Amino acid sequence: MDRTGQEQVVSGTAADMAGAPAGDARPAAAADPPGTSLAPKGDFATLSKPHLSPILGRYFERSWDHGEGHILYDSAGRGFLDFASGIATTSLGHHHAAVTQAIKDQADKLLHICNALGYLEPVGQLATLLADACPDPLDTVFFANSGAEVVEGALKLARRVTGRPGIIAFRGAFHGRTFGAASITSSSINYRLGYEPLLPSVYLTPFPNVYRYFGDDEEAATTGAMGALRTLLGHEIPASSVAAIIIEPIQGEGGFNPAPASFLRALRALCDENGIMLIADEIQSGVARTGKMWAFEHAGIVPDVVCVAKALANGMPLGAIVSRRELQERWGVGAHGTTFGGNPVSCAAGVAVMNTIAEQGLVANAATRGDELIAALNGLMEQDERIGDVRGRGLMIGVEFVKDRATREPDTETCEALVQACAEQSLLVLNCGTHHNVIRFLPPIDVTADEIARGVELFATALRALPQHADAAGA
Ligand SMILES: Cc1ncc(COP(=O)(O)O)c(C=O)c1O
Repeated sequence: MDRTGQEQVVSGTAADMAGAPAGDARPAAAADPPGTSLAPKGDFATLSKPHLSPILGRYFERSWDHGEGHILYDSAGRGFLDFASGIATTSLGHHHAAVTQAIKDQADKLLHICNALGYLEPVGQLATLLADACPDPLDTVFFANSGAEVVEGALKLARRVTGRPGIIAFRGAFHGRTFGAASITSSSINYRLGYEPLLPSVYLTPFPNVYRYFGDDEEAATTGAMGALRTLLGHEIPASSVAAIIIEPIQGEGGFNPAPASFLRALRALCDENGIMLIADEIQSGVARTGKMWAFEHAGIVPDVVCVAKALANGMPLGAIVSRRELQERWGVGAHGTTFGGNPVSCAAGVAVMNTIAEQGLVANAATRGDELIAALNGLMEQDERIGDVRGRGLMIGVEFVKDRATREPDTETCEALVQACAEQSLLVLNCGTHHNVIRFLPPIDVTADEIARGVELFATALRALPQHADAAGA
């Protein structure tokens, strides 16, 4: 059902088009579980709404049933080409054979002990694989359950190890919803509204947003944002009181804004000069998504701490703080901990993810498919002036919608309508950005060239069907 309650009927679903076997759709739920008899079969919204908290915003009013490869099926059996990947999480697609098998095997063996009780094979294996996947000297891993938890832990590590209070984050960043993470998040005021007082000694500084504030000039963005940061250090908090600077190498929720390589290098140098820890939040951009294992590698820098979650276990809850050993030794035994973090089933999934990425050359695939995607979207931008910018790296690509290319006024309405219009074409993409005017493309990292071409075709069809600005104004 779409927002208006109309069932969308299209000829040829994404499943057909992406080559999924015909008749592959499973029937809607076979038997009503207790308490569901009032909900029409397969309508999980009616089932859920009376007792699920309304706090969670939802992109779609659809009921989802299962996934196979790169196709997500709703409860009516209709397939959607999934270029949202559960917000950069199911990077190997759905029902991935190796990941599913690893989960089943570990579930048959042992679900949980709490890592405080000792050592488990998949946990040690994944730590080793992660250390191998990070540049030297990043070799030590603390496992948690989610992105926000990882960010919280990284902030605690930085404060404890440096003995300094200050945390600097970037305007427009998203780091999570717990109190510490929300204190350094500003991609939307809704994440902060009503929650003051947030964490003290947190300072926000402008992000080098090349398109929105620096007229496409990366060097100007670097100079401007570094200047603002130095001003902050000169007037509000001395560098000697700063424990950490945390940055998303590519801002995610804030609008898929890549930080220029020159900026990340300047930031690394500033941190080195002042004994400040540089924390890279790779929760959305990491694990091969951008055509490198980590987005910071595009700038040739090595952070002190890396935050990992989302795609690490292809949908199983898992996060990781990675740093050099000495930092976690100085953090101190018992300084931090978790009951569920590093769950063996999640870690087994993570081992399968990391092995699959290596065996199938998926870092390179993300780079190649990303080049194809960005080229196709640039082609669309040439034909459609509603698109103001196409940017990103690898398979983390944003398409920004504007009302006017000269003023760059954000076009939230077109972008939000487009998310729904794409779904009507059986393509799943999401929007992001402070003004919700950026479509984010997050296809699985093992996506094929044909799927990229098909996804862009469905996107273009959906966009063409929406009114042009002049039409909308004249309507
Ligand atoms: C860059 C970044 N950091 C942190 C988070 C928080 O992760 P979680 O939702 O798992 O707490 C997210 C989630 O979208 C993210 O994109």
